[in-house]
Amino acid sequence: MIRYKDINKAHIITEQYSKLYNESINNNENFWSKVSKRIHWFKNWDKVSDVDYSKAKIKWFENGKLNVSYNCIDRHIENGHGDDIALIWEGNDILEDKQFTYKELLDEVSKFSNVLKSNNIVKGDRVCIYMQMIPELAIAMLACSRIGAVHSIVFGAFSSDSLRDRINDSRCRAVVTQDTGVRGLKKDIPMKENVDKAIIDCPSIEKVFVVNRTSSKIKMKINRDLWWHEEMLNISSDCKPEWMDSEDPLFILYTSGSTGTPKGVLHTTGGYLVYASYTHEVVFDYQDKDIYWCTADIGWITGHSYIIYGPLSNKATTLMFEGVPNYPDFSRFWQIVDKHKVNIFYTAPTALRALMKEGNEFVKKTDRKSLKLLGSVGETIKEPEWKWYYEVVGEKKCPIVDTWWQTETGGIMITPLPSMDNFKPGSAAKPFFGIEPIILDPNGNEVKGNPAEGLLAIKKSWPGQMRTLYGNHKRFFDNYFSQFKGYYFTGDGVKRDKDGDYWITGRVDDVLNVSGHRLGTAEIEGAIGQHKDVAEAAVVGYPHDLKGQGVYAYVTLMTGVESNEIIEKEIKFKVREIIGPHAYPDKIQFSSGLPKTRSGKIMRRILRKISEGEINSLGDISTLSDPSIVESLVKNRK
Ligand code: PRX
Repeated sequence: MIRYKDINKAHIITEQYSKLYNESINNNENFWSKVSKRIHWFKNWDKVSDVDYSKAKIKWFENGKLNVSYNCIDRHIENGHGDDIALIWEGNDILEDKQFTYKELLDEVSKFSNVLKSNNIVKGDRVCIYMQMIPELAIAMLACSRIGAVHSIVFGAFSSDSLRDRINDSRCRAVVTQDTGVRGLKKDIPMKENVDKAIIDCPSIEKVFVVNRTSSKIKMKINRDLWWHEEMLNISSDCKPEWMDSEDPLFILYTSGSTGTPKGVLHTTGGYLVYASYTHEVVFDYQDKDIYWCTADIGWITGHSYIIYGPLSNKATTLMFEGVPNYPDFSRFWQIVDKHKVNIFYTAPTALRALMKEGNEFVKKTDRKSLKLLGSVGETIKEPEWKWYYEVVGEKKCPIVDTWWQTETGGIMITPLPSMDNFKPGSAAKPFFGIEPIILDPNGNEVKGNPAEGLLAIKKSWPGQMRTLYGNHKRFFDNYFSQFKGYYFTGDGVKRDKDGDYWITGRVDDVLNVSGHRLGTAEIEGAIGQHKDVAEAAVVGYPHDLKGQGVYAYVTLMTGVESNEIIEKEIKFKVREIIGPHAYPDKIQFSSGLPKTRSGKIMRRILRKISEGEINSLGDISTLSDPSIVESLVKNRK
């Protein structure tokens, strides 16, 4: 049994959970009304929520006026905490770090807000941010929120093609980037060069703001490209925060779906902030003066909600890290924990697997006494890495919160709370307050009772729920609300055990989770299809020791083209070039054809089984137009 160190002052203790949870469901509006008071509203809202899933209409805290950067910075200064540390930045190299007090952060954010304004960026404009993990990334996003510009952060590993498509989809007016980036042994990641290539075909871009991170030689285009440090030089550090409506957009974040192009998930202001703030405080049991570190990249939702908006709205000290866990060696994470006396540490199972593989010495040579709580996100944390995290990293003193959620949900939805005493490795445990999971069978009927297994949907809306897909409300409705009427469908499978604890079993659609990165099979197939010799491709996931899921591509070449190692390499590079290195296929199997039904639909179920090595349970293949294909696929399996 784990006894959580701060149990006596925990925000929620186990005994309170059931009562408060029931209240949050039975008296939902009242519950969220109380929770909403944790943030500052310039003008109070009139109505808690207005939701109609049949139209995918979702509104929270209607007519309330607020500003996110005010809530994350100014408010704490006004309350006398201006000299508290808001942000600790740990650079890629050991000796490089910086700290910003709340006052210092306000100065930087206000100045960059004024830079944006002086370049005619106004409320409602979209600003793309394409950076590595440097402080200016945090400053840029808070500045956007201060003036009401909508940020769209594109993960710094995406290729110029992916960047171009995302900029065009939301017609961004400006990009914020850096000269080059450093990460581990990579010292010159061509950020500005990628932007230059991308925006050749982005007519909406008027300005590019460039941070000097490495002083590498880059090209600057007159009248379009502006150095961050020059713009910040003679500009006022006074910028009044814009009064935003609760339902005004805060940000767009692109994520992969099972079909088509990436989806621009749109989050709005009031509900998102209330939810990010409340979940951060309760799930991580954030206490005054705790040092909190989430290792995610801000380019993903975890970084948005749990490096920036959740922690800063709670006056936390939040740490951001530019580097990687294995540079200069596999001890780096734990050295950082010791250096900054980190109390709360939140990471992904894929990082834990990579570190676990290197043995315990890298952990044991550090102290880690400051740690009180560990967190996990992105995929199921399986028993071996859970145990390692618990026993070796936390020395059996720290609870582990295995948090299940999605880009679309804005914040944590199913999770243990630190004060619980019956942690089950691999289980995301209980729904968060206000969240009502439901298990459905494929026909949309509820699977009742415990134990139960099926598809995971959510009944009621919650404040952090996404509001639309940018520019495509129909796709929003079709993706999430059309299959099962009256529910938000998550795309995940789930089991509920006899105690009512939830166990996520993974995606049930064609979305892959590769090292915690979400990728659509359709996107990768599209990239492979751009190789001149490829006739057709189908991509599936397969279990991968380190990445969780690996990318397995079945490729049919044009008639007359022989497969060889060169083509295989070229195809892999095509994917890297078009999407980014994180989508690089692990295995390519050439085949004369793909298993299809007579109507021409590719039977992915069969391909998945073959890639997983489950060749004795392929199921009925008699409906295929050419069953003999399967035999050759099995024979030539990689
Ligand atoms: O399949 C689930 C998995 O990650 C998906 C969401 O991916 P994304 O939008 O990129 O957000 C990741 C970070 C919030 C989910 O549909 N997932 C996320 N957390 C867990 C998880 N699977 C199992 N356990 C988790 N704790």
